[in-house]
Amino acid sequence: MGLICAGSVKRYLGLCKMNAKNTEPIIETKDLTIRFGGHVAVDHVNFQMQLFTLKSIIGPNGAGKTTFFNMLTGQYKPTEGQVFLKGQDITNLSPADRTRLGMGRSFQLTNIFPMLSVLENVRVAIQSREGFGLNFWKSYLHFSDAEDEAYELLQEVLLDEKWSATSAELTHGEKRKLEIAILLALKPEILFLDEPTAGMGQEEVPAILEILQRIKEARDRTLLLVEHKMDMIMSLSDTIMVLQEGRIIADGEPDEIYRSEAVQEAYLGGGTTRE
Ligand SMILES: Nc1ncnc2c1ncn2[C@@H]1O[C@H](COP(=O)(O)OP(=O)(O)OP(=O)(O)O)[C@@H](O)[C@H]1O
Ligand SMILES: [Mg+2]
Repeated sequence: MGLICAGSVKRYLGLCKMNAKNTEPIIETKDLTIRFGGHVAVDHVNFQMQLFTLKSIIGPNGAGKTTFFNMLTGQYKPTEGQVFLKGQDITNLSPADRTRLGMGRSFQLTNIFPMLSVLENVRVAIQSREGFGLNFWKSYLHFSDAEDEAYELLQEVLLDEKWSATSAELTHGEKRKLEIAILLALKPEILFLDEPTAGMGQEEVPAILEILQRIKEARDRTLLLVEHKMDMIMSLSDTIMVLQEGRIIADGEPDEIYRSEAVQEAYLGGGTTRE
């Protein structure tokens, strides 16, 4: 690319532009910092991730992973620093505005309606995306389309067999799958998942791994994940950022992270992790 861009051949200019654009980060932070009283929970974090990749954030308990997530998605306002989405400064936007710009975050099972069926939960999310409230009759006419789309999403998250069950009847792991389907129904460009396997039995973890693997392989969404399960992180991630005491101690491909002395030190010395 360097050679092509250095040349003066006009017909390559479009290609240069396109390549340059493709390497721009979809989301980026500059010196992102938050203090709670005297405690610096996230400390001047310069983070970047590329379109259609899967990045994970790892680090010992209390490292600042969830707090960092909360600043990306707008739940927390940083004390210092900025967040950029496709080059636009979104630091002062509300969580709802960020959702409208394509940032989708799951909230530990709080967006599931327990009395609705599994299919209905996903259908409602699709209709909310399509503006059900504003355009009722149009949505009503397309009710079966919404149901078809909902069923396809349930297939994608390996929950189609439970389509008619009441959501309250699902196991914890199945609820996490439904939550991912609801999130996908909103068609976010970037998915933010904070510990999608938390509280799950070991036997339920492989299904979540498979779902995330499929989302990643489709290469049409960007995924940011916080997880403690190292084997899962190593097999899924394109890149991994490691936080310790609010600071980045490593950021790179899984094998670099695996070999990093700073990371080994963080996990073996001092810091504790929960499985
Ligand atoms: N609202 C808050 N008020 C005060 N302190 C906070 C708040 N939110 C987070 N913290 C502190 O910020 C630090 C980072 O917490 P955070 O929850 O981000 O860690 P984490 O890396 O997600 O940990 P875990 O792996 O346990 O989920 C902790 O010391 C925590 O107590
Ligand atoms: Mg956390």
